[in-house]
Amino acid sequence: MRKPLISGTWKMNLNHFEAIQTVQKLAYLVGKDELELVDVSLHPPFTDVRSVQTLIDTDKLGYALGAQHCHWEEKGAYTGEVSPVFLAKLGVQYVICGHSERRELFGETDEMVNKKVAAIQQHGMTPIMCVGETLEEREAGQTEAKVLGQVRAGLAGRKPEPIGALVIAYEPIWAIGTGRTATADDAQQMCAAIRACVAELAGAEAAESVRVQYGGSVKAGTVAELIAQPDVDGALVGGASLDPDEFAKICKLGA
Ligand code: 13P
Repeated sequence: MRKPLISGTWKMNLNHFEAIQTVQKLAYLVGKDELELVDVSLHPPFTDVRSVQTLIDTDKLGYALGAQHCHWEEKGAYTGEVSPVFLAKLGVQYVICGHSERRELFGETDEMVNKKVAAIQQHGMTPIMCVGETLEEREAGQTEAKVLGQVRAGLAGRKPEPIGALVIAYEPIWAIGTGRTATADDAQQMCAAIRACVAELAGAEAAESVRVQYGGSVKAGTVAELIAQPDVDGALVGGASLDPDEFAKICKLGA
């Protein structure tokens, strides 16, 4: 049985003071009892990571610390980039890679995602590898080809087993920040296809253990039906994770 993972990514929102307030409010609402049933990871902007880490550690909150991005190299002349070694040292457990915003706006390619997945795992953290189709691709009937192509590219060149700790987030691009959510049936279909693809690449055991999240306008009103699907193991939440009340509801309903 895979424990669900609800991940809140604040994208480029909340400075480190706001981050502390947000996590403190969340801590009143989602505590040890809920965290028995659901894993919760928080992905602040880099400038907030240390503050959030200190709060989680000091108050023993039980949330997993996350990052939104990292480079694949350990160190060197990469101005503005952040090393996976530094993130691991801060106690980061989950790192998002291949988010569609990074792919579209910052030129992150499948090859870069592939290197990041390997580097994140090599440093003892778990990648949350994002995949998803545009509206044009969906309407042209290319959803599976696009999404599974991204899964294969992200995991290409790996030894068949073990695949390592891995989360894949299916995020249809047309659903991100738009208020439109994939239907539970569509989310289930794609998450199942992703799991089958992992089985083909890395074997049945890897497919059984990989957690596949759905992301794209997840709200308290939609999360329960999505998570109830057999192959949807959690949610990657953007906008709704900025509001501790809403995000707490999502975590509870996702449990
Ligand atoms: P929204 O929940 O704001 O649609 O964002 C989803 C997302 O991109 C999470 O990575």
